[in-house]
Amino acid sequence: MSGHSLYQPQSPFMKWMERRLPIAGLIHSSFVVYPTPRNLNYWWTFGGILTFMLGVQIITGIVLAMHYTPHVDYAFNSVEHIMRDVNYGWLLRYLHANGAAMFFLAAYVHMFRGMYYGSYKEPREVLWILGVILLLLIIATGFMGYVLPWGQMSFWAATVITNLFSAIPLVGEPIVSWLWGGYAVGNPTLNRFYSLHYLLPFVIAGVVVLHIWALHVAGQNNPTGVEPRRDTDTVPFTPYATIKDSFLMIVFCILFAWFVFYMPNYLGHADNYIPANPAVTPTHIVPEWYYLPFYAILRAIPNKLMGVVALGASIVILAFLPWLDTSKVRSARYRPLYRQFFWVFVVVCVGLGWLGSKPAEGGYVIAARILTLYYFAHFLIVLPLLGLFEKTKPLPNSITESVLHGDVPLGASAPPPVKT
Ligand code: HEM
Repeated sequence: MSGHSLYQPQSPFMKWMERRLPIAGLIHSSFVVYPTPRNLNYWWTFGGILTFMLGVQIITGIVLAMHYTPHVDYAFNSVEHIMRDVNYGWLLRYLHANGAAMFFLAAYVHMFRGMYYGSYKEPREVLWILGVILLLLIIATGFMGYVLPWGQMSFWAATVITNLFSAIPLVGEPIVSWLWGGYAVGNPTLNRFYSLHYLLPFVIAGVVVLHIWALHVAGQNNPTGVEPRRDTDTVPFTPYATIKDSFLMIVFCILFAWFVFYMPNYLGHADNYIPANPAVTPTHIVPEWYYLPFYAILRAIPNKLMGVVALGASIVILAFLPWLDTSKVRSARYRPLYRQFFWVFVVVCVGLGWLGSKPAEGGYVIAARILTLYYFAHFLIVLPLLGLFEKTKPLPNSITESVLHGDVPLGASAPPPVKT
């Protein structure tokens, strides 16, 4: 689907280069002439926002690493040193910490967009699965990053989450000691988390390349879910998508800057400004907001092993979405029932997030159990059945028709253009 390379090198150097390593031609065919469906809305900018945010995290992270010390005796103070003594250290740290939150916000919007418009359906299954792998990688990276400041929440989050592995029968305990590098979360744990937290973003960058490669082979989906006709339904990526994406990216950066400059600690937890103390357990151990729905699922199940299984399953099940959703129609625009179930699902996820922030007791646990059941029922019951029984709306003949005349059913002729 990548545009045929019409790239004409201008300078003698570029002509020389193009015959040896046609990288300029690749960029030209992928990001300049690349045929983009003409009806993409702003929800299609979030992949670009994620790529941008990955860059922000890597750059700010590399500079932070120059001043950070991964040792239990120095880590907390080295972060305070960054905040107080390093030039613009406070800015770097607030960008990196709030950047993680913005990254997850963009990732969730990006995924819900994919679910609404059926972007995971044939032929984009591999693209979607690569997305699920990216989700797992960003979850792991964010978790290990949170441990590095070595505050109370860092320490106790690391203890709670690594302890989950002890639920595995027989080999659970040895696995946990192996993860810790000792008999409790300690210096070896902090060291390996630091090493992996530095490494994983580059693995993520590699998987993003595969993700975008798969996207360019299958071509972008679009709000109608109808495959574009190449001659009439697409526009070149540059300038149309580039300009449009730049606009939303600027708006997104304003929101990001608002957090960084006006409420940099709003999303964090006050206890993480207390140095880690293995002898004092905080009253409520709460993860960052972006893990809360999964945390609620974990705690909803009374049995520890089953809780861990449910937590893992709540992410892994996403990879099977292309096959669990049996409908032939991609976009929720033409699936009136699915559209309603989609919004119920969004509310359930937000509800689980809210419950994850509450203590695991009384009505909160019961509500979390109901929502957890619904979460899985959405994938295992609602989606497979909807595809079989839902009466979908007629699809438009083409994107162009839907853009110019509203949705016209397949086979019907388009109404004449409106005279102005
Ligand atoms: C590091 C995280 C990620 C990055 C940098 C990233 C990047 C991108 C980019 C640049 C695009 C094209 C623009 C767009 O459609 O928005 C895209 C498309 C897509 N991504 Fe991601 N993505 C990430 C995570 C995910 C996740 C977690 C999922 C789902 C589980 C996912 C699923 C998809 C799908 C299905 C498309 C095709 C959308 C369409 O054409 O309708 N991505 N991604």
